[in-house]
Amino acid sequence: MKVINLKSEMKAVSDRLKKDGKSIGLVPTMGYLHDGHISLIKQSKRSCDVTVLSIFVNPAQFGPNEDFNKYPRDFEADSKIAAKERVDFIFAPDETEMYHENHLTYVNVDKLDRIMCGKSRPIHFKGVCTVVLKLFNIVNPDKAFFGKKDFQQLAIIKKMVKDLDVLVEIIDCDTVREPDGLALSSRNKYLSTEERKNAAILYKSILFAENEIKTGQTQISAIRRKCMEMLSLNKFIKKIDYFDIRNPENLKEIKKIDSGTEKLLIASAVYIGTTRLIDNKVVLL
Ligand code: PAF
Repeated sequence: MKVINLKSEMKAVSDRLKKDGKSIGLVPTMGYLHDGHISLIKQSKRSCDVTVLSIFVNPAQFGPNEDFNKYPRDFEADSKIAAKERVDFIFAPDETEMYHENHLTYVNVDKLDRIMCGKSRPIHFKGVCTVVLKLFNIVNPDKAFFGKKDFQQLAIIKKMVKDLDVLVEIIDCDTVREPDGLALSSRNKYLSTEERKNAAILYKSILFAENEIKTGQTQISAIRRKCMEMLSLNKFIKKIDYFDIRNPENLKEIKKIDSGTEKLLIASAVYIGTTRLIDNKVVLL
């Protein structure tokens, strides 16, 4: 495994691999790797000749009052995990390497970036799309692997790739969960013991909504009301950012379930103490 810090070196390596006819899988991460990231690496290893793991805590996707400075970082532990998983290259640029001094260009996926997480994190997806497109240009992957836990991120990246004719296949990978249902996330580290015990309520509320739908409730407002109530009764939930039921294909809001409804996305973001956690599930009808 080789660690690359420079864009020029990464580009040269990728050019050489392409000339040799190798397929490249990119697993973009902000590091502090957990089993969710490992499952992305494994999927890349299975379907591509060479796997590049990028580790970059992207300042452009954090708002001014968000957790950029305290976001967990542990490059040594990440390298050990990557080596064990037989990653071929870690691409780990620093901030000045990734964004030169006078960086002015950003990628906006209109409309989709203003709903759900985008309502309370207005610059988040612009930062995500900008860094992901830069990574695609530097690494030139055939496939890129993203977790479904960040469903809106995945939908926005797919839209960006389609709209801008980027030649990369986006592979969505299942969410990995703790035994009690909590989705793995680097931010789970922020939770106190008591908060951690209560954090599974987020996924439980989503499963509750799924059960309501499957047992015939058709009014979305009634389902949302019950789920919001369930969440707000837990004293560790300090704020419900949103609890939405949408069309997973276009993220449009759904008001009523009828015979034409085939799939639904149930997605929520809540604050457990000061930690913002997100989760979702796609329900097939
Ligand atoms: O999902 C993440 O970890 C980040 O948003 C990503 C895709 C690596 C971009 O910084």
